[in-house]
Formats: sequence, structure tokens, C-alpha cells
Amino acid sequence: MPKSPTRQLAEDHEYVLLVVGAMEAEAARMERTGTVDIARVARMVEFTRDFTDGDHHVKEESLLFPLLEERSTAAGATVSILLSEHEAARDCIRKVAEALPDAGGEDEERAATARAVIVENLRLYAYLLPLHIGKEDTVLFGLTEKLLSVQELELLAEEFEGLAATPGAAAALERHHRTAHELAREPVD
Ligand SMILES: [Fe+2]
Ligand SMILES: [Fe+2]
Repeated sequence: MPKSPTRQLAEDHEYVLLVVGAMEAEAARMERTGTVDIARVARMVEFTRDFTDGDHHVKEESLLFPLLEERSTAAGATVSILLSEHEAARDCIRKVAEALPDAGGEDEERAATARAVIVENLRLYAYLLPLHIGKEDTVLFGLTEKLLSVQELELLAEEFEGLAATPGAAAALERHHRTAHELAREPVD
């Protein structure tokens, strides 16, 4: 029997938070040293796009949120706030990704501006995500368990697991989990 849908989402949150911690540390290191570790920041962007947005937010946005929206107006209001937070988070990552090519470039003025954009948006992301996740772990999961029947929860759990059962998905998921641990563990000088 699959894990409950809220349990599955909560486990994803733990990986997202590992990378959020790494982002915060990286922003502090960049500010202290005036340098950027392009490869490390690129891995953070890739993890966020592939796992946080590609896997986790798809479960929320395509499967869970629509169910709650159709069930209750109050839940719909919560969902619309959560969706706007997803959008704000994507915007941070988009800005980090756009600034990365210049951040390591020859033109020092452009590079310094790009580094400042990266620091600002890594920090903003690291500020937004724990608040967002805290809201989901309490309010969203509470609504989910209150508004959906046992059968609906089981079906949703199977749909979540179905997404991870497509060809290549299990290996990709394992890679994302490994990346999160590596990013969280890597020492920052
Ligand atoms: Fe979310
Ligand atoms: Fe979430």
C-alpha cells in the first residue's frame, strides 16, 4: 500500500529544505568571498527545476490542488496563495539561472552585478520556501486529510507513486535525492 499523499509530499519537503540550506550557505559564502561556484549553483538550479518544480510541484499543482479547489472555497483561497508562492519561487530560480553565465565572465563589473543578483535570489528563495513548506505541512495537509475521503487519499497516493513509476523516473529520483544530500554536505569555505 502506498504511503499517504501528505507523507509523500512531506518527504519531498525534507529534500527541498536540504537544498534551501545549501543555498543560504552559498549566498553567505559568495558575499564573504566575492566569488561564485558556478557548478554548485548550477546544480541547485537543476535540482530545483527537475525535482522541486518538475516532480514535487507537479504533484501539488496537477493532482492535489485541483481536488481541494473543487471541494471548498476556503481551500481554494489557500491554494491560490500557495500557487503564487510557487510562482515567486520559480521567479527567483529563473533570475539565478539568467545571471549565472555573466557571474563567471571576464567583465568584472557585469560579473559583480550578476553575483549580487544570485545572492539576492538565493536568499529570497531560502526565505520563501521554509515559510511555504511550513504552511503546507500544517494548513494544506490538514485540509487534505479533512476534505478528502479515505478512498480519495488512497487514489491520490497511487497517482503520486505512478508519477515515480514512469521509465527512468526512479533513477532520476534517486539522483535528485543524492544531489540534495551532496549539496547539503559539501563544505563551504
Ligand atoms: Fe508547494
Ligand atoms: Fe510542497
